[in-house]
Amino acid sequence: MNPFREDLVARNQPEPCTIVIFGATGDLTHRKLVPALYNLAIDGELPAGTRIIGFARRDKSDDEFRAGLEGINRAVSRNGHDGSVWDPFVRDVSYHCSEFTDADGYARLADRLDELDRSHGGRGNRLFYIASAPEFFDVILENLKKSGLNRAPEGCWARVIVEKPFGTDLATARHLNRVVNATFDERDTYRIDHYLGKETAQNLMVLRFANAIFEPLWNSRSISHIQITCAENLGMEGGRGGYYDKSGALRDMVQNHLLQLLSLVAMEPPTDLSADGVRDEKVKIIRSLRPWDTPEKVAENVVRAQYTAGHVDGAPVPGYRGEDRVPDDSDTESYVALRVLIDTWRWNGVPFYIRMGKRLPKKSTEISIHFKEAPGVLFSALPGGLPGGNVLVIRIQPDEGISLRMVSKIPGTSLRLETVKMDFHYATSFGKASPEAYERLLIDAMAGDATLFARRDEVEEAWQFIDHIENAWHAPADQRPPMAEFTAGSWGPKEADDLIARDGHAWRRL
Ligand code: BG6
Repeated sequence: MNPFREDLVARNQPEPCTIVIFGATGDLTHRKLVPALYNLAIDGELPAGTRIIGFARRDKSDDEFRAGLEGINRAVSRNGHDGSVWDPFVRDVSYHCSEFTDADGYARLADRLDELDRSHGGRGNRLFYIASAPEFFDVILENLKKSGLNRAPEGCWARVIVEKPFGTDLATARHLNRVVNATFDERDTYRIDHYLGKETAQNLMVLRFANAIFEPLWNSRSISHIQITCAENLGMEGGRGGYYDKSGALRDMVQNHLLQLLSLVAMEPPTDLSADGVRDEKVKIIRSLRPWDTPEKVAENVVRAQYTAGHVDGAPVPGYRGEDRVPDDSDTESYVALRVLIDTWRWNGVPFYIRMGKRLPKKSTEISIHFKEAPGVLFSALPGGLPGGNVLVIRIQPDEGISLRMVSKIPGTSLRLETVKMDFHYATSFGKASPEAYERLLIDAMAGDATLFARRDEVEEAWQFIDHIENAWHAPADQRPPMAEFTAGSWGPKEADDLIARDGHAWRRL
């Protein structure tokens, strides 16, 4: 056993800072960031002296900004809304009105930050959160540099969190990385992927490497295949169609969230728990993805689809092309299914299947590990045969938990077999709700821990894989792999069932 190490702690201590949120009038700030900070305050986790400045173009007073935040916090806060916590919390929230392009706005911000530090005894730590529309990422970073805000006073730090989308392809991601790293050191750069902040995603490493029983089986000798499903019942509500139609399911979810989950499932054990120790192993997996780099390979291994009008949760919904702000001849996928191969010793010959879609029957994200079947010598000749193999399911959301399916004898005087489930639910085992992903990630950024953030090379490697597929989809019309269709509220197109059936498998029924 390793000797106890004093430098290893359950979590680094977060330090008080001023958080400047660019894009402060947007949905993300109102629905996720401020409620996350408020819930940290409720739990007593927000370091005393933390202040928040919202930076945006719209003309607003501090009070108007606070009132807007309060209205939404009341509706979405995980722990409800308690005036006795909210009132002191929101006193430290203020608004800074400026165009993102206006250098003077940043000079005024710098003065304001200094003044706040002087009058409130702040230490000069700054966390810049870029949550604006992506076309402003560059200019915000450039202005932070010009105004000197990217450099912290002696003994303090200046860090940046960059929201998604981190580029729209490899070239734009590389460009953004250059701009970010010309402004902040890589160790002060936090590229957010909120899936990494989800409790069950964090538990993947613990499940794999803190239990001795799984790792010996976690390879091509025992595993037949792995599925990653991210189903959503929502469509293009709230005017989202405009952004989404330029992105599509592959860029919106697979490039980031689902390849991150894949790398956590497939990575080798890191040598230590440092941010780079973990990310070194994750990036090797993304780098080892077999590229689908011709239209033929894309047609063979990737299915893209759109939903047509149907019913979700009992209500009629339009088809993708009929959604608000989506062109009626749109060629963007709202659903994608992929067969992925990882060319490493451990995973040789084990297919990974990823599927993601909007307007499926329900919201559910899970990873399922399908083990090979036991040799049939004893039981497969029985009436009914062997009823399937072992499946380990990691439910990312909702109803976070882990279950293991195994074959059991049905009680009675005859020998009949059926599968049963051993099930662990976070809610019942731990009796308290997990924090929201943004809570964990904000605290980590304040503590200087980048483990749950994507590193530069991870993002670029992921785009490299995705670009090949996008290129095939944007080839001249007569060479493009087709766009499949399925009825909204169903489990996706027949073509996706065929994709997995060709290897003798079937999608798990959720
Ligand atoms: C976002 C995507 O990153 O993640 C959305 O842009 C998607 O399209 C969302 O709906 C899903 O996040 P969650 O946490 O609700 O699963």
